[in-house]
Amino acid sequence: MCGIVGYVGPRNAQEVLVSSLRRLEYRGYDSAGIAITGNGRIGVRKSAGKLQRLDDVLAEQPLTGNVGIGHTRWATHGVPNDLNAHPHLDSSGDFVLVHNGIIENFLPLKEQLLEEGHRFRSDTDTEVLVHLVADEYDGDLIEAVRRSIGRAKGAYALVVMSSREPGRIVAARMISPLVVGFGEGETFLASDIPAILPYTRSVLVINDGEMVDITPDGATVQTMAGEVIEREPMEVSWDAGQAEKGGYPHFMLKEIYEQPGVIEETLRGRLQPDGTAVLEGVDLPDGFVAGLDKVWITACGTAYHAGLVGRDVLEKALRIPIEIDYAHELRYRDPLIRRGTLTIAISQSGETADTLAAGRLATELGSRMLALTNVVGSTLSRDAADILYTRAGPEIAVASTKAYTAMLIGTYLLALRLGVDRGTVTRDGAVQLAGELRALPDKANRVLRMDADIAAIAGRIAGIDDIYFIGRGLDYAVATEGSLKLKEISYMHSEAMPAGELKHGTLALITDGTPVVVVLTQSHLYDKTISGLQEVKARGANVVAVAYEDDTEVAKYADHVLRIPRTIDFLSPVLSIIPLQLLAYHVAKELGHDIDMPRNLAKSVTVE
Ligand code: G6P
Repeated sequence: MCGIVGYVGPRNAQEVLVSSLRRLEYRGYDSAGIAITGNGRIGVRKSAGKLQRLDDVLAEQPLTGNVGIGHTRWATHGVPNDLNAHPHLDSSGDFVLVHNGIIENFLPLKEQLLEEGHRFRSDTDTEVLVHLVADEYDGDLIEAVRRSIGRAKGAYALVVMSSREPGRIVAARMISPLVVGFGEGETFLASDIPAILPYTRSVLVINDGEMVDITPDGATVQTMAGEVIEREPMEVSWDAGQAEKGGYPHFMLKEIYEQPGVIEETLRGRLQPDGTAVLEGVDLPDGFVAGLDKVWITACGTAYHAGLVGRDVLEKALRIPIEIDYAHELRYRDPLIRRGTLTIAISQSGETADTLAAGRLATELGSRMLALTNVVGSTLSRDAADILYTRAGPEIAVASTKAYTAMLIGTYLLALRLGVDRGTVTRDGAVQLAGELRALPDKANRVLRMDADIAAIAGRIAGIDDIYFIGRGLDYAVATEGSLKLKEISYMHSEAMPAGELKHGTLALITDGTPVVVVLTQSHLYDKTISGLQEVKARGANVVAVAYEDDTEVAKYADHVLRIPRTIDFLSPVLSIIPLQLLAYHVAKELGHDIDMPRNLAKSVTVE
């Protein structure tokens, strides 16, 4: 996820661009840059680090001019450094571009452009776009952009400017968001409405497959085929603070709602029609997968809970022993990790001190280390031999939600990639799994529609002393994360356990009205979990069940049933976690807690 902006009009473009980027920083903050056309030339200033670093550069070397584009980056291809920061220039320096999204076929395009003599300066997928525009240019910028888009595959919102046509900016949208704002003799572009709210409330949302040509006098919207589209701008009435969260009251809720898009994004370009997974960054030597004798997963917090799902998934897909340990435990053990072991270190931030230490220990012991992380260029990604990036975008709320689902998707992709390689996942199995994975974004959207029902249940749970989460197999793994979500932000005592373990102690704590949340999606364990459910029900528990929508049995034993669309049991964690995230959110809201910044916790724990 990145933020992009553009401006044409009478104002000092540098001021408008930087102030708009500041409101987009939530979309990415590992580097930033702007380009401005003045006196027939394009000036570019960019810097790795937060926007403040760009501010410092601009204080030393300001840009003057009234037309410009800008970008705040969340890296997907190429580490966050000055060269990879946007905007990107073509070889002549006459064209400049910013981009939000991923160009899937950038490698073959880059090879072709290099052969034709284009000089590349960065490792980004984006840079191919500006060279394509230069290549296709014959006097009309919008036509050059149109032809370039025809050659690129992927998701994007892009904004392009040329010193050969000052006073004009061209933009296009395919999946990544883009809006146009209208002022008196000035026109704005941005990834979202809040970025330009201080300047205008007259806004036009650009749809997928549309291009837009802006000048100080306004904008022309066209289809990719060149057909002009007439659409009136709307007047927005949001206040800027509310809008930074995209209209949501909290970042956590916004991030929960972003999950269908995050699943799609993390899968994008990685599933082949034959079910195999192509994972750029996972470059295992020949024979490595066939010789693999063990996988060792290590992580902390929510990432550890994603690892619990990963353990069962990889065990089934690879048919070798899979171990999992908290990183803070593993680093002080004397583990039997060795050459034939693949260590998978999972971390949203890629900066958790214990996870880094456990990963380094595994590497010292001769294991190959694969990082499953959300942050490009993070320390973990630099330590690792292989990297699989999740594409959840910046996660602001301390309680992790979308990063967790993205990690689950990452483990499924690894299971496909390694399982097919080992021959333990059949081609038919791979095709089926890939098909089910592709269906998840829509199903996740359907789960989100239960929000209001969940809020009502939360009202009955909020403030009760103890709550328990149970399940078996993958449902137990999901229960651990559901329980953590609730305790992190509601401060209620919450425990998760395998449903079969209840009778060995915890059942003594279940009394009249004790809330018990049960996850019930694993068909082969269904009857067993129902028995556990009956045990708590008989002691007076108030049972909330998460089950498939076609389950006709569960309502007999549960007080409330939260129904999710059916998928294969293997993938159900991606859907069953969503109601639990919403439950935690609504309980904390009911209790009036600081949802995005819970007490005593930090988003990233970079000390031991
Ligand atoms: C902190 C955060 C958790 C997170 C854990 C691991 O405790 O509050 O939400 O799950 O660190 O973070 P990582 O960045 O390594 O996934």
